[in-house]
Amino acid sequence: MASLPPILLSFSILICISFLSSFASAELHVREFVIEARPVKRLCRTHQTITVNGQFPGPTLEVRNGDSLAITVVNKARYNISIHWHGIRQLRNPWADGPEFITQCPIRPGQSYTYRFTIEGQEGTLWWHAHSRWLRATVYGALIIYPRLGSPYPFPMPKRDIPILLGEWWDRNPMDVLRQAQFTGAAPNVSDAYTINGQPGDLYRCSRRGTLRFPVFPGETVQLRLINAAMNQELFFAVANHRLTVVEVDSAYTKPFTTNVVMIAPGQTTNVLLTANQRPGRYYIAARAYNSANAPFDNTTTTAILEYVNAPRRTAHVFPRLPGFNDTATVTAFTNRLRSVRREGLPLEIDENLFFTVGLGLINCSNPNSPRCQGPNGTRFAASMNNVSFVLPSRNSLMQAYYQGKRGVFTTDFPPVPPVKFDYTGNVSRGLWQPSRGTKVYKLKYKAKVQIVLQDTSIVTAENHPMHLHGYQFYVVGSGFGNFDPKRDPAKFNLVDPPERNTIGTPPGGWVAMRFIADNPGIWFMHCHIDSHLGWGLAMALLVENGKGELQTVQPPPLDLPRC
Ligand code: C2O
Repeated sequence: MASLPPILLSFSILICISFLSSFASAELHVREFVIEARPVKRLCRTHQTITVNGQFPGPTLEVRNGDSLAITVVNKARYNISIHWHGIRQLRNPWADGPEFITQCPIRPGQSYTYRFTIEGQEGTLWWHAHSRWLRATVYGALIIYPRLGSPYPFPMPKRDIPILLGEWWDRNPMDVLRQAQFTGAAPNVSDAYTINGQPGDLYRCSRRGTLRFPVFPGETVQLRLINAAMNQELFFAVANHRLTVVEVDSAYTKPFTTNVVMIAPGQTTNVLLTANQRPGRYYIAARAYNSANAPFDNTTTTAILEYVNAPRRTAHVFPRLPGFNDTATVTAFTNRLRSVRREGLPLEIDENLFFTVGLGLINCSNPNSPRCQGPNGTRFAASMNNVSFVLPSRNSLMQAYYQGKRGVFTTDFPPVPPVKFDYTGNVSRGLWQPSRGTKVYKLKYKAKVQIVLQDTSIVTAENHPMHLHGYQFYVVGSGFGNFDPKRDPAKFNLVDPPERNTIGTPPGGWVAMRFIADNPGIWFMHCHIDSHLGWGLAMALLVENGKGELQTVQPPPLDLPRC
């Protein structure tokens, strides 16, 4: 060693350092998200679309478990905005969660706010989106969390990763679509197209040239990271002639299983492995609606192309077989196959046994002929949980009011069970169709073991409602059709390997049961991820109290938190 020439010595030190730094702890990702209107042309027409950094969809964030992010959102658009990091737990840090008027006031035009947060014990596919009225129609992107360096996937490493963001496009300003619906009280117009990474694909007018092609090498296995960023629609997804192996949902690994079709609801993510083991050719990747409601929907189909690099020049494109739009049986079979690989933090006993109805409603008008009452039979659409139609505060956020001890912004009397018992999925009497309005939260003790059964109602229509809980991952321990039976159904719960998620759909005219430990203090929004339903009030919030000491207490808010 003593005889090593200096140049070689310094070289070996350099190697040592770079070797060590590859194991060094987490990275800090500093980024700027400029919110601005940019011309985007789709379906033959150009719109001034709200984008991030001029990109639609927005930039993909690629980080590792343990990393920190500091993302400065600069609002150069004409709308108030906030950004939500969907699925990130934000432990003790609700200030970075993002839903406007829940954990922060919106970032006004000309202002900025830096979201600072750390990924703690999460890996997989998540995403980010605007959480301010209908801006998420175009303001969204992928958030990919790789495992820590040197920590492998629980399945053979795929050759490549392909993020697939499913979206919904209106041939109008989405904010105008919302404004019109808010005025008339009717359902908002359905979209004009679905998109894959922002592109509608071959089946729409003026879209062929933009159709995305994903090249694959014969024999290789790629990972598709599916994200349903659509505003209002659950989607079926398939790739012609290729089977898909599901390995992860909502940033939680699953026991792998193989399927021809995936159902993915707004807010959810699903990772699938695909092996290019078919005849070299071109295969359509396609998505279209799963519509469980008795309501109009966009019944178009978005496509992209899986293209073998050695595909002969002239081969016909093969189209996948997709289930019928109302094929609930296929959806149930698919969701029932999901199993998690771990059950850390699954409560076997429960302290809080909650039962929430979720569903639509109608508000009666004193003048049913009014232009403001264009819903069914001269009403306005509404939605509720336990008959409370959630009203967003307008002058403060729940979290800021709570932290500063300001009264009058919300109340803590959200009912743990429906105020009136009825046959939820039967023929509900019209007297029960009109919800009350309120800004109510439900209080939970720190570390409470919680069970929530979400019961869909048949008011207006039974429907699959993809319910999302901020700040948590929960276990889906059971589900079924009809009314939940508290005597018989719990006996059938899966407490062995229930899937872990952040968004779960109620079966249409059915119920779903979730469990989690309330170990993240703060105020956390829980809502239907169908934005039209959210706007009608299908939401509530959980207020999780602090525990003891700093590590169980909400952090102080950052200094640049937008003013209310
Ligand atoms: Cu992805 Cu409150 O939403």
